[in-house]
Amino acid sequence: SQDVKEDLKHVLFTKEEIQEKIAELAAQVDKDYEDREVLLVGVLKGAVMVMADLSRALHAHYTMDWMAVSSYGSGTKSSGVVRILKDLDTDLHGRDVLIVEDIIDSGLTLSWLKSNLESRGANSVEICALLRKPASVKTEVPVKYVGWDIDPEFVVGYGLDFAEQYRNLDCIGTLAPHVYS
Ligand code: PRP
Ligand code: MN
Ligand code: MG
Repeated sequence: SQDVKEDLKHVLFTKEEIQEKIAELAAQVDKDYEDREVLLVGVLKGAVMVMADLSRALHAHYTMDWMAVSSYGSGTKSSGVVRILKDLDTDLHGRDVLIVEDIIDSGLTLSWLKSNLESRGANSVEICALLRKPASVKTEVPVKYVGWDIDPEFVVGYGLDFAEQYRNLDCIGTLAPHVYS
């Protein structure tokens, strides 16, 4: 079987760079939440790698829960209407929530999710995203923790997929043209 890394055109962030960035984000989160217990909410499936590494880089007490959401088909994604496929198990009343995401593209998923979680009585809802594409953002979402701002190119790896593939790469990169054809 072929090495999946051969499908990449360009590696944007290596495994080491990602782990270093995760450690920086974790240090900020630890500092900001030293007096509160945080509920980390991961957004399936893209956020699994960020959640796994960020949560282990944190030092304080944290709990975690997961949501799976879907927009109503790609054609209507700009409507910002999101459907919950798997909801949280946790009651959010009075909780301090940190949403963990791999990437902010249009911002529509997170903008919907943030207000949805706030409406459940959370004390605070903040966002941590490893990547953000400022040129693609349609809805400004206040993001407290961002790893990197990147160009609006399609990227895969470290949780990010193309047709459900490449999530297991330990680096993040752009896809080679032969993959599309
Ligand atoms: C991707 C990504 C974010 C969302 C960002 O998820 O993981 O969750 O899109 O897009 P937006 O900012 O335009 O809303 P996707 O819907 O591909 O599901 P996945 O995480 O299961 O891959
Ligand atoms: Mn996602
Ligand atoms: Mg995806």
